[in-house]
Amino acid sequence: MHRDPDRVPPAAGAPRSALPAWAALAAHAREVRDLHLRALFAADPGRGERLAAEAAGIYLDYAKQRVTQETLARLLALAEACDLRGRIDAMFRGEPVNTTEGRAALHVALRAPRNRRFMVEGHDVVPDVHAVLDRMATFADAVRDGAWRGWTGRPIRHVVNIGIGGSDLGPAMACEALRPYSRRDLTVRFVSNVDGADFAEATRDLDPAETLVIVVSKTFTTLETMTNAHTARRWLTAGLGDAGAVARHVVAVSANTEATARFGIAPDRVFGFWDWVGGRYSMGSAVGLAVMLAVGPAHFRAMLDGFHAMDEHFRTAPFACNLPVLSGLLAVWCTTFLGAQTLAVIPYDQSLRRLPAYLQQLCMESNGKSVTHAGAPVPYATGPIVWGEPGTNGQHSFFQLLHQGTRLVPCDFIAFARSAYPLPGHHDLLIASMLAQAEALAFGQTADEVRAAGTPEALVAHRTFAGNRPSSVLLAERLDPFTLGALVALYEHSVFVQATIWDINPFDQWGVELGKALARRIAPELTAPGEPALGHDSSTNALIRRYRRLRAGRAGGDRRAGAEPES
Ligand code: F6P
Repeated sequence: MHRDPDRVPPAAGAPRSALPAWAALAAHAREVRDLHLRALFAADPGRGERLAAEAAGIYLDYAKQRVTQETLARLLALAEACDLRGRIDAMFRGEPVNTTEGRAALHVALRAPRNRRFMVEGHDVVPDVHAVLDRMATFADAVRDGAWRGWTGRPIRHVVNIGIGGSDLGPAMACEALRPYSRRDLTVRFVSNVDGADFAEATRDLDPAETLVIVVSKTFTTLETMTNAHTARRWLTAGLGDAGAVARHVVAVSANTEATARFGIAPDRVFGFWDWVGGRYSMGSAVGLAVMLAVGPAHFRAMLDGFHAMDEHFRTAPFACNLPVLSGLLAVWCTTFLGAQTLAVIPYDQSLRRLPAYLQQLCMESNGKSVTHAGAPVPYATGPIVWGEPGTNGQHSFFQLLHQGTRLVPCDFIAFARSAYPLPGHHDLLIASMLAQAEALAFGQTADEVRAAGTPEALVAHRTFAGNRPSSVLLAERLDPFTLGALVALYEHSVFVQATIWDINPFDQWGVELGKALARRIAPELTAPGEPALGHDSSTNALIRRYRRLRAGRAGGDRRAGAEPES
């Protein structure tokens, strides 16, 4: 029987790099390493139209990625060899794809319509999801129309979301992105950092009588969130003069209802979610309550529809025109085969200024892994460092390195054809700038072109742009709730595709635990009376001693003028 070598499964426990499809791609990468995008475009006038795909209103142009038709075919063959189809189906079937925690990762159920079924351990979770969404909507409507009142009878005008990581970044990003869809007379602020500056600055001009605090924590044990939640309780009690007022001003979002009860939040003020929802995949759950309060239930549901549209596209579209599959495979290509260490995400939309921070957690907490599902070290590069800033601002700070530095930095540009802020002369310039950057990165400017422009010979090398720097463009009509949901789902599933190729678990985050445990040990050492015995390395010990002296004002330094804050 003939067997396609690309489809021969690797021996049990063998790394992905032992797959024939992997070896073929690596050999191909060596062959095309010096191929320039100039040559690829010159050889194929239809490239710009063909290397593109569209779903849920988002158009992905990847023609300026350093790929040939053969690259794409080999990437798709690798996806098949890694059983991407089987892994997608397993995730949608609610199988425990989060292998190290023995859990499903069924965030797609959070945005399923009422008539869909998603099973976790034999139980259809969709009715549970909609029961919480309905409670959220009832609550959000009551707050928004003034029926829900604070302890003193005043309506709620401010919402403070206390949470960190996945319990902060998604809703914070979405509230910013959807500001044109939000109630402008309702302030929504986010407190995440255990640095007291965060809580103090977020609440300094708020009246507790008009403030609703949402404590968001999947585990309800996170140090930063619980510290801020206790501070919020003191702030409310002090401001309202009665500890009983707190119950009227605090609601919780959590999967740990025992802990919310211990904190003193009544069950009817808790919006639940489930352990099959990872924190960084939880934006569509009750974690998005602040978003729903800001934009209202209808817009929130439109955002979920956008998520669902991309989920369905991911589940059903052929891989060759599947946006998350293409995006994930291109990330693998750039990272593992072209050696790029980072991915810059540059939204040409000020409203998406928090998107890079959101994607940092989504991508880096998911794919910042160095062992396979089976626990073996991976012999190849995995998740890239994700970073970014909105355009055009980045052009005037770090783009120099993107154009002429020694590193390869693939970029994702994100833009919309219509702005919610149609000030004359702004939007077309914004988009022209994005298109110009992608073009300049790809094609550069040769020494001959620089000379032809009359540049003195001494400056030719300095003004030459090598080009061949890859980017993708995501273009949609406008940044509305539906499109935001689709965009986030695209990145979520792209991360899953990458993890599948790399054979790593994108749904755990053991790497965050060691620092937490050490902080618990160090915290009492900073304040213990006398000279506590310290058992750390000499650097940490010295820093702890110095901190203790500075904190007590015993460091012997002069008081500098202007060192005292105004308030
Ligand atoms: O420490 C990392 C982390 O566990 C993230 O994965 C998570 O999003 C964040 O902390 C907050 O966790 P929680 O929602 O349980 O407070």
